Amino acid sequence: MVSCSPAPLAALVAAGLPVWYAKELVAADQPKDGPKDKIIMGAIGLGSPQSRGRAIMGEAMAQAGVEYVAVCDVDKAHREKAIDDVKSAQKKNNKPESEVKAYEDFRELLDRKDIQAVTIATPITGTPWSPSTPCARARTSTARSRSP
Ligand SMILES: NC(=O)c1ccc[n+]([C@@H]2O[C@H](COP(=O)([O-])OP(=O)(O)OC[C@H]3O[C@@H](n4cnc5c(N)ncnc54)[C@H](O)[C@@H]3O)[C@@H](O)[C@H]2O)c1
Repeated sequence: MVSCSPAPLAALVAAGLPVWYAKELVAADQPKDGPKDKIIMGAIGLGSPQSRGRAIMGEAMAQAGVEYVAVCDVDKAHREKAIDDVKSAQKKNNKPESEVKAYEDFRELLDRKDIQAVTIATPITGTPWSPSTPCARARTSTARSRSP
């Protein structure tokens, strides 16, 4: 829904424009919701309520235009809690409810073409086989392959 602020609308009508045309002009000047104003996101590595993954996802979800559509964790309980978090944040931030899919394997989440960005908060142990390293590498190569 587009709302017209009364001041410019009244000024345009006072200037002699028909109300319907003045409304269209004001509406054309409003920011639009649409793909350009939206970022479709996923989260990898959710953790417990005190974890970094849940904190950064919570901060991101509070931003206008951010929509989480996928969460991934190797722990089923963490995946389920993260879906609850997304649903609660949608209500709290007055965002439309959207479908949120849970993944156990981060590669399946990264395969989705609609996801534009991910937050990753898996453990770092400093070893080449630690989960963050393949997650980050996979994400970077996916992003490169999708760039024009
Ligand atoms: N906790 C903090 O305050 C904090 C602050 C700054 C940075 N960090 C960093 O954030 C990262 C996460 O820390 P945390 O304390 O939230 O850890 P955590 O153990 O609470 O959460 C990590 C989650 O990642 C999941 N996970 C592990 N391997 C996975 C994989 N391959 N795919 C999907 N999920 C996987 C685990 O099941 C767990 O739910 C670490 O790298 C840490 O150094 C944490």
